[in-house]
Amino acid sequence: MALQVFVNYFEKIGKKQESIVSLRPNTFVKFMLSARNIVKKYNRLEVLKGVNVQIEQGEIVSIVGSSGAGKSTLLHILGTLDEADGGEIMLNNQPIHQLKGKKLANFRNNHIGFVFQFHHLLPEFTALENVCVPGWIAQRGKKELQLHATELLTLLGLADKIHNKPQELSGGEQQRVAVARALINQPDIIFADEPTGNLDSANAKDLHDLFLRLQQELGHTFLIVTHNEELAALSNRVLHMKDGLIVS
Ligand SMILES: Nc1ncnc2c1ncn2[C@@H]1O[C@H](COP(=O)(O)OP(=O)(O)OP(=O)(O)O)[C@@H](O)[C@H]1O
Ligand SMILES: [Mg+2]
Repeated sequence: MALQVFVNYFEKIGKKQESIVSLRPNTFVKFMLSARNIVKKYNRLEVLKGVNVQIEQGEIVSIVGSSGAGKSTLLHILGTLDEADGGEIMLNNQPIHQLKGKKLANFRNNHIGFVFQFHHLLPEFTALENVCVPGWIAQRGKKELQLHATELLTLLGLADKIHNKPQELSGGEQQRVAVARALINQPDIIFADEPTGNLDSANAKDLHDLFLRLQQELGHTFLIVTHNEELAALSNRVLHMKDGLIVS
């Protein structure tokens, strides 16, 4: 996809064109996410034992590790879906471990995107409506939101499917709708937990290419838990988790 398409897209949604340039990898380096000494216990089970993670703006970082290593637990805590027992998390200079209740929910909706193994699309809503949901919650204007959601779905190759319901879409298409939903509020970071875990190899490759395009052309930042070696290999960095710690 030519950069100009993205430039037009950003102009339409009211972002300055320069922001695309500043968001290109390696031109704007700072820690988008910085987590220190994250600890989590379930009863006596110490699942995270003091994890440190730092992610730069515009990076794709993968987390790999064996089942039960604590990858999903870490991702959920970094994404504010779960609470740590100790440690600090700064996301875009905000100490998010201090946020609670409605403030936390608002912050999550406006600053964090999620893509899960199972897309969790609402079955009675169309692709367009599913993508709009986080925007409705953020009380964005109806017309602007619909236009933005249509643009995103078009960018992701789903222009002719916007009125389809999830069951009228293929697995790969459903996952791309979930990616569009994750992007709709222009999040600081997208957390993905085994996003290709439910896809065949061709659709998994398409999703890899999509993440790469979103990083390279729009500067999006990703933290991806994956068992897929191909996806891990195209990341900027791979973090290995073992027994509740990042070991490399
Ligand atoms: N809500 C919970 N209550 C109790 N134990 C839990 C809970 N959630 C996770 N665990 C335990 O924490 C450990 C880490 O789980 P987690 O889901 O983070 O692993 P994972 O690395 O994502 O594994 P997988 O690759 O299989 O998804 C496991 O031993 C799991 O049983
Ligand atoms: Mg997991």
